[in-house]
Formats: sequence, structure tokens, C-alpha cells
Amino acid sequence: MKTKIVVIGGSGLIGAKLVKNLRQQGHEVLPASPSSGVNTITGEGLADALAGAQVVVDVANAPSWEDKAVLEFFETSGRNLLAAEATAGVGHHVALSVVGTDRLLTSGYFRAKMAQENLIKGSPIPYTIVRATQFFEFVGAIAQSATEGQTVRLPPAMMQPIVSDDVAAALTDIAVEQPLNGTIELAGPEPIRMDELVRRFLSANRDARKVTTDVHAGYFGTAVNDQSLTPGNNPRLGPTRFDDWLRRSIPQG
Ligand SMILES: NC(=O)c1ccc[n+]([C@@H]2O[C@H](COP(=O)([O-])OP(=O)(O)OC[C@H]3O[C@@H](n4cnc5c(N)ncnc54)[C@H](OP(=O)(O)O)[C@@H]3O)[C@@H](O)[C@H]2O)c1
Repeated sequence: MKTKIVVIGGSGLIGAKLVKNLRQQGHEVLPASPSSGVNTITGEGLADALAGAQVVVDVANAPSWEDKAVLEFFETSGRNLLAAEATAGVGHHVALSVVGTDRLLTSGYFRAKMAQENLIKGSPIPYTIVRATQFFEFVGAIAQSATEGQTVRLPPAMMQPIVSDDVAAALTDIAVEQPLNGTIELAGPEPIRMDELVRRFLSANRDARKVTTDVHAGYFGTAVNDQSLTPGNNPRLGPTRFDDWLRRSIPQG
């Protein structure tokens, strides 16, 4: 049977790839976000978008990551979306969150993601929460957040980042599987320390900034150790290696 799947945040990095994959599989897919007239904060267009949908995948992100703004975004969006899904009779809510969210609650962003997860768990809609590690495409933002002049000060905390294509591929499968009413983790194929990850990224981009390793440096201001950002025992692994992605994504010459 053809499934109607609504992708909230369908114009974003993950959303656009997910929409393409699901359409290739023959599903009826509706990308929904403010740029296409659907807003989970104001409620604009939401009921119409969800009419007849069996599955909703929420891969939206907040426009501001300031503590109060980001919490308000994920709480309001989550409440409005889950209420509209209950009215429409949606049978599976899939949401993208972040590995380690429950270990990083000194961060406003992660408190907001935790609030999003808790709303989902408290709602009657069957769900699957997918917690991914940091995307390869996010490494530049990590570097930027830690830059002072020509120095990038970062902790040697272990990570296991994943490319956005592999996140979208996993979500493509999960969207049409049965709801888990639980959480699964997604990670890349290899662990790598944050300082080394950014060093490789800058070097491949011929960026003159230098990474200084500092055990006391934070991740966007939040203290992290080797357990904070890494998955537990049974993550689903994306196959793409960071070095292969770097070679592919950076113009050679
Ligand atoms: N970055 C990472 O390393 C990482 C790691 C793990 C998990 N995640 C999670 O992955 C998810 C997706 O991230 P991304 O990088 O793909 O996001 P993104 O590229 O920044 O896209 C954000 C999307 O959210 C939509 N949006 C914003 N406000 C909205 C609203 N009021 N109503 C409906 N949609 C709205 C945007 O729509 P318009 O384009 O129309 O404005 C856009 O489609 C996030 O939830 C994030 O927490 C990220």
C-alpha cells in the first residue's frame, strides 16, 4: 500500500535527502516547513499537511540556538505537531535527536532536545526516536564555535560522527518500519577525537587555523568526556568514512 509520509523540516539538510529517498521508493511524500507554508510553531498549514498521513518524520531544527529560544521552539513545535498527529490519526512519529542528549543537560540545546523527546514519549502516538551522532557537515560549525583568532581550542573528547547521507538512508528505512516505541542510535563507522577530527577538516580545506588540544575546553561551552558524544553498545553504523567524505567533498587541485 502507498504510504503518505510527511517530513517536517523537509527542506533541511537531512529532510531534503529523506524526501528524495522516500519518493524513489514510491511513497507519497509531503515536505513540510515554513518555506512550503507549514509551520509547527504557528500551526499554519499543519492540519492540511497531515490529513491522511500514516507517518510523520520530524527533522526540523530551531532557527535560534539561544537557551530560551531553542527550548521554546522544540516544546511548542512538539506539542503542536503531536496534537495535530492525534487528530489526523497518524500511526508512527519518527524524530531525529542527538546521541548523548541525556548526558549533556548543562547545554540549552540539549535540554531542548530532551524536552522534544519527553513530549514524544508522553504522547499516545507510536514513535521511534533516532539519536544520531554529529554530522560530518557539522564539523565546520564545531571549528567555528571554538575559534579565537587563528586558534581553535578543543577537547580531545571521543566522537563517532556520521555523514548526512547515511542518516537519511537509515531514516528512510525506519520511516516505513513498525514503530519501536523506543530509541535507536546511529553513528559513523569509526571513533575519532574532536581535536583530531577538526584538525583533519581544516587541513583538507587548506584552512590556516591551528587546533590546540585543551582537556578543559568545552563543546559549544559544555563540558564533555569520552562518553558524552559516543553511542552505546548497539548503534546502527553508517558506512561512510570521514576521510573518504573529505576527499569527495573538497575540490582537489
Ligand atoms: N547537526 C548535527 O550534527 C546533528 C546531529 C544529530 C541530530 N541532529 C538533528 O537533526 C535534525 C535536522 O538537522 P538539519 O541539520 O537537517 O536541519 P537544517 O538543515 O537546519 O533544517 C532545518 C529545517 O527545519 C525547518 N523548520 C524551521 N522552523 C520550522 C517550523 N517552525 N516549522 C516547521 N519546520 C521548521 C526548516 O524549514 P525552512 O527551510 O522552510 O525554514 C528546515 O527544513 C535536528 O533536529 C537536529 O537536532 C543534528
